[in-house]
Amino acid sequence: MDLPIVAEIRGRDRLEVTSLKPFNMKIIGCEQLFNDLKEFKNQYGSDLSLWPLPKGRSHTQLLIKELILKLKDQWKHVYDHEEVCHCRNVSLESVEQALFLGAETSEMISKWTMSSSACGTCRPDVEKIIEFRLKV
Ligand code: FES
Ligand SMILES: [Zn+2]
Repeated sequence: MDLPIVAEIRGRDRLEVTSLKPFNMKIIGCEQLFNDLKEFKNQYGSDLSLWPLPKGRSHTQLLIKELILKLKDQWKHVYDHEEVCHCRNVSLESVEQALFLGAETSEMISKWTMSSSACGTCRPDVEKIIEFRLKV
């Protein structure tokens, strides 16, 4: 597995695993992220690859879930292009930012990012991304 392993919401929260044995992780982020990590660590120990996937939909739990899947080598994003909506030039990153901030339907993501507001052919992709990120 290539190091570092990173899960981040750019400009907000970032988890970076720099070494596996001994386990070492750099954390930049909000209080909620630190609290979630502390809670999981108290419950499941310090080896993140042994943690169960968080079931919550908060941005911090979604981020921890991404990191755990990456540590287990099970991370495969459903969408592998940079841009999701070609009419409005909305990037995957923007769609996911909206999702992390609480937009859980393609209508909400459309309202926040303008995605799917022209031809609409990107809507199934947006829905796929929502399903992928929010499923447990
Ligand atoms: S590709 Fe998104 S509205 Fe056309
Ligand atoms: Zn945060």
